[in-house]
Amino acid sequence: MCGIVGYIGTEDAKEILLRGLEKLEYRGYDSAGIAVRADDVTHVFKEKGRIATLREAVADDVAASVGIGHTRWATHGVPSQLNAHPHQSSTERFTLVHNGVIENYEQLQREHLCNVHVQSDTDTEIIVQLIEQFSGDGLTTEEAVRKALSLMKGSYAIALLDKDDPETIFVGKNKSPLLIGVGDGVNVIASDAMAMLSVTDEFVEIMDEELVLVQREGITIQTLDGKEQTRDSYRAELDASDIEKGTYPHFMLKEIDEQPFVIRNIVQKYQHEDGSTRLDGDIRAAMQQSDRIYIIAAGTSYHAGLVGKQLLERIAGKPVEVHIASEFLYNMPLLSDNPLFVFISQSGETADSRGVLVNVKKQGHRTLTITNVPGSTLSREADYTLHTFAGPEIAVASTKAYTAQMAVLTLLAVDTAHAAGIELDFDPLQELGIVANAMEALCDQKEELEQIAREYLSVTRNAFFIGRAVDYYVAMEGALKLKEISYIQAEGFAGGELKHGTIALIEEGTPVLALATQSEVHWSIRGNVKEVAARGAAPVIISMEGHEQEGDALVLPRVHELLAPLVSVIPTQLIAYYAALHRGCDVDKPRNLAKSVTVE
Ligand code: M6R
Repeated sequence: MCGIVGYIGTEDAKEILLRGLEKLEYRGYDSAGIAVRADDVTHVFKEKGRIATLREAVADDVAASVGIGHTRWATHGVPSQLNAHPHQSSTERFTLVHNGVIENYEQLQREHLCNVHVQSDTDTEIIVQLIEQFSGDGLTTEEAVRKALSLMKGSYAIALLDKDDPETIFVGKNKSPLLIGVGDGVNVIASDAMAMLSVTDEFVEIMDEELVLVQREGITIQTLDGKEQTRDSYRAELDASDIEKGTYPHFMLKEIDEQPFVIRNIVQKYQHEDGSTRLDGDIRAAMQQSDRIYIIAAGTSYHAGLVGKQLLERIAGKPVEVHIASEFLYNMPLLSDNPLFVFISQSGETADSRGVLVNVKKQGHRTLTITNVPGSTLSREADYTLHTFAGPEIAVASTKAYTAQMAVLTLLAVDTAHAAGIELDFDPLQELGIVANAMEALCDQKEELEQIAREYLSVTRNAFFIGRAVDYYVAMEGALKLKEISYIQAEGFAGGELKHGTIALIEEGTPVLALATQSEVHWSIRGNVKEVAARGAAPVIISMEGHEQEGDALVLPRVHELLAPLVSVIPTQLIAYYAALHRGCDVDKPRNLAKSVTVE
């Protein structure tokens, strides 16, 4: 979703801002812009479309060492040059970029800006016009910003330039993520540390409802009522090479291939030398004390949560409910006496999940976040965090973060089982090693998977994924991956449910990808395949060694059946990748989507 960068130092701000925006491209956007200050003028460049288009529009001869930049994912107003950020106040004194949604912007406009001509359709322009209005009433810029921020309801991260104060970038935030990067004679701002790693790897968090004055020689953090705050910086544990594609054509392919390494890394991080699991004692105690786990997540992370329920219930005997974050508060179940809320989120920034976190914390419930970004909002605000150690995931389509989430959920289940004195009849850490080897073998089968994508998905309008038991959850994930990057209408179904309506959609040649990894249900799913084949469907069966049959399109190496989702998802990821590629889609940056979904 929208991304912000800012720079105040001694080098060419334009180039640093543009490079920073390129690093934020993965978040998803539809327009981009920068504003730099040079010769007493704030120069604004903005364009609809890609950063490459913006690059061409930026004048080479503007020499500036201060500026702000933005990638916009449209919420208020269509993607266009006019609605792109930065926005300027009527006199062009103030220039602003903003992430988030201002819920009361129409009311603020009515109450304070009735004589101001607002040009764009955005809520953002209202903020910058308000600041100009308040400064016209005699307030200093700092006071005007503070007043505007206190009136705003909703989520925001903002960065503001004032033509009359060339040495300061005014920064504020509430609910939307924003970091300050600190250096020697240079300071930066960024929605994500990786955008500014080329300048510094030392960052300071900003809390909600704070205002920060970012200057060359230092930063001043204040609460909205003017109290100064001190805060230590931290070193971002990111390797710049992790966020490069290397020799890969796309981040998605690189990230699919990284999965065996990620699983081995997780085992290593969470394993003691004697082979037992190494989880924080507080997390273990929270799991033990809870009588029911409520998993809250969205999209792919929700699918990992569904698998997590099976793992926690079957391995540790813990009752688990899994809920879609955006629905939970409106369809709140009756809670048990001692619930533990587990938030699963790659980015740790998903606004829907955060909405639930804030709500259940207010009710006094304990919370654990499983995330790939330990300094993220969900991680900071939950009582406990489990890190998935997958390394930065750049492609919008989540792959390695999903398998990492399931691996961490496995370890959480195992740790909980051990703490409860439950004897397991398998060695889960060893089984995860076998999973990593199986993943590696599948990543080596790209040609076969590309052939399946070419044959079944090059021209089709729709496709179905079916499965039973945990295979059903992978079917849902396989369908999500395919639709988000190839735009083929794809649905994941429980094999037995098709005949209750959806089978009406099966036509001659409709691709149906069936997962058959579970011994208990593989005959029944094969029965469902026969039903759709009898109606003209083109079935593709993915089975597992031990119960493969002639005609199966792919046979997965044998792994423990509870862990089969970690392996069976790999062919679905690669099939989606190649389908998108054959259909000429932008694999890493699919249309309309954002990596970090920071609006509700
Ligand atoms: O960062 P999160 O895991 O909370 O994100 C949740 C979803 O937006 C995300 O999983 C989305 O569904 C992926 N793009 C799917 O590939």
